[in-house]
Amino acid sequence: MKLSVPRRVPAVAALALAGLLATAAPAASADPAAGPQAPVSALAAPDIPLASVKAHLNQFQSIADSNGGNRAHGRPGYKASIDYVKAKLDAAGFTTSVQQFTSNGATGYNLVADWPGGDVNRTVMAGAHLDSVGSGAGINDNGSGSAAVLEAALAVSRAQLQPAKHLRFGWWGAEELGLVGSRYYVNNLPSTERSRIAGYLNFDMIGSPNPGYFVYDDDPVIEQTFKDYFAGLGVPTEIETEGDGRSDHASFKNAGIPVGGLFTGASRTKSSAQAQKWGGTAGQAFDRCYHSSCDTTSNISDTALDRNSDAIAHAIWTLSAGTTEPPGDLYENTADVAVPDAGAAVTSTVTVLGRSGNAPAALKVGVDIKHSWRGDLVVDLVAPDGTAFRLKNSSGSDSADNVITTYTVDASAEAANGDWKLRVQDVARYDTGYIDSWKLTF
Ligand code: TRP
Ligand code: ZN
Ligand code: CA
Repeated sequence: MKLSVPRRVPAVAALALAGLLATAAPAASADPAAGPQAPVSALAAPDIPLASVKAHLNQFQSIADSNGGNRAHGRPGYKASIDYVKAKLDAAGFTTSVQQFTSNGATGYNLVADWPGGDVNRTVMAGAHLDSVGSGAGINDNGSGSAAVLEAALAVSRAQLQPAKHLRFGWWGAEELGLVGSRYYVNNLPSTERSRIAGYLNFDMIGSPNPGYFVYDDDPVIEQTFKDYFAGLGVPTEIETEGDGRSDHASFKNAGIPVGGLFTGASRTKSSAQAQKWGGTAGQAFDRCYHSSCDTTSNISDTALDRNSDAIAHAIWTLSAGTTEPPGDLYENTADVAVPDAGAAVTSTVTVLGRSGNAPAALKVGVDIKHSWRGDLVVDLVAPDGTAFRLKNSSGSDSADNVITTYTVDASAEAANGDWKLRVQDVARYDTGYIDSWKLTF
């Protein structure tokens, strides 16, 4: 028996958060392969006008033109870009804030815009880096993501959308210096604020002139939301592989926040199979002007920019919808934990993030412990604040094997979010076993 060898399982948190983001669905599933269910009450997202997105790109281009040809961190074209985006958002009713940081001896700026309303304990975020490299205007990288996120935010305002979840938008500085601005933002969020972010959607290079249609392979619900949109257009997608962790979503992912995003390709070459399904030129880079001076308004595929802008709006509308939390959201840890014979207590952790309020009065705790004499075992559920709920005492006379059952715990005095632990101790000699899996149903 494999006492201490954990099974290879996907990240537990990702599964849990998949359930969380599927709040518009009637029920969640622990199995990402099952996919999210259709939202029950989502309004259809509007078409994002390509002309409006391109108007923002023209503004970024003229900002670069009048500021030494770039919009790079520490250069006047960057701050002018921040001022441009902020003015649009302020006029549309967003609550904006500019966060300053220092990198490489220069002041950097993040811009964060909150759309008033919605459940802040379930915040959906979308963002893009606003800085260019020093060698050019950065219109595809990343005027494209910046302009599309801006226009999606303005569409939220035009619709006066009142989604169940809170919406927040971010424009990051100094991404090109190594994700500096987004990391600064995430690192300076108190952990409770972090846990309120149900998902972060990143858009970095979404108008490449020889485009591919790449979806980040991260949170399964976010990923599926984008895939569904492109499937509806009849546009095939591929998983993004040109450098996982090479954009600002990595800053959020590193803090345990579910992430997703879109990408149309940088310096990698389009294959002939890709040219067949997407058009464009095989044997040529997705973006031949990546990080160079020709990344201007001429360096954009209108079709890619249009499709991706609409996909962003679709994801924002879909993921922020949902009037009630679905019953039966499942948070599970299936990694095996050996329970030493007559030894110290061991624990297995399930992380719950992004829920509002307290845990239910009838929290279901599904336990699967394999053991050859279950009377040896003392089992507790430990809440994030350390409060222990005794699920099972030891008993010299209970010679049956295994603890495979569901306990019901009144956890209504406990905050839902945080690390929940199943604590198991074997208090008598000879028989041993392991935690096979356990789960919480909220
Ligand atoms: N972030 C990179 C840049 O700005 C571009 C990039 C490369 C990228 N690979 C990626 C962005 C994958 C998103 C996903 O220079
Ligand atoms: Zn970029
Ligand atoms: Ca024992």
